Amino acid sequence: MFETDGLKHLPEILNELGARKPLVVADPGVRDAGIVERVEAQLAGAGFDFHLFSEIDPNPRDQSVDQGALRMQELGADGIVAVGGGSPIDCAKAMAAVAAHGQSVRDLAGPGRLSRPVVPIVAIPTTAGTGSEVTFGAVITDTRRNVKVSVKGPQLAPAVALLDPSLTLSKPSDLTASTGMDALTHAVEAYTVKGANPLSDAMALHAVERIAVHLPVAVENGNDLEARAGMLLASLVAGIAFSHADVGAVHCIAEALGGMYDLPHGVCNAVVLPAVMRYNMDYCRARYARLASAAGIDFQGVEDGAAAAVRWVEGLAAAVKLPRFSSFGVDPSDFPEIAAKSAENGSNPSNPRPMAAEDYVALLKEMTGS
Ligand SMILES: [Fe+2]
Repeated sequence: MFETDGLKHLPEILNELGARKPLVVADPGVRDAGIVERVEAQLAGAGFDFHLFSEIDPNPRDQSVDQGALRMQELGADGIVAVGGGSPIDCAKAMAAVAAHGQSVRDLAGPGRLSRPVVPIVAIPTTAGTGSEVTFGAVITDTRRNVKVSVKGPQLAPAVALLDPSLTLSKPSDLTASTGMDALTHAVEAYTVKGANPLSDAMALHAVERIAVHLPVAVENGNDLEARAGMLLASLVAGIAFSHADVGAVHCIAEALGGMYDLPHGVCNAVVLPAVMRYNMDYCRARYARLASAAGIDFQGVEDGAAAAVRWVEGLAAAVKLPRFSSFGVDPSDFPEIAAKSAENGSNPSNPRPMAAEDYVALLKEMTGS
């Protein structure tokens, strides 16, 4: 459902799903912004027996997931209302999986591990970027190995994605920028990975068209409802694109960096995306040119268009004031570990150009000029 002020439909959505004892899962930021209060008001007004779980980190950790699942079992929760950015929504999806399977989230990571149905999830995104409200996976930090792992299965897709652009109005410009660049990365990677197909292509190009128009405005003026709505829809569409194609090397590095340094996911993607696009250039020239068209760029011929697409992505990241990779303070002695984790990522084989650990090291060196 996509509607400004659509939060009012939450009670009827839960009734349709047969959830009378939902657990609201939200991060502390969303709670402090007063959005949880608005959700709770809807639930209280309709007589639901609900509780709140908000012990969630920005990069959700295995312990939070296991604790949340325990809470679900103690309360007999028959549904989840996940409110916030990708972290609470991913955490909620993983909690539902853990509660259904009775195993730690660490034991459920990886493809094909889920065999049981989970309680229905209503996802209410308050940032525009992750697309987690429509994807089949949840990315969680395995704190024993400091690595991000994915819990995946079609049953983890939220039963309903409730998109209300008014809920994204309050977000600060840096978060708008980083989450928006995450959506752009989903679109660019979905459009260029080996598994790209007509459905994901259409979604990815549509997302790029919208991001090109709306992201700079949403960052500049957070109260522009049209730009916020455009980005929320772009994020959703980009989420559908990559869940039907996959992501590639940008996400492999971003997840390695996020797991090791606890950096925001969108920022990691944004700083890495242009460098990976250059690395993949020979395998993606025509597709990059098509992305440039979608971004509204005039160019002459495929070669020119492909180069323009990379310049556009780099320019957009700079225009929305995202930091450069060098500002992360990543120690070059960590490059081999980042590279090894990137190469082991389940999405690495999807990257259009083969990328081994040594290629990741070379890319990291290039990005830092070391
Ligand atoms: Fe992402």
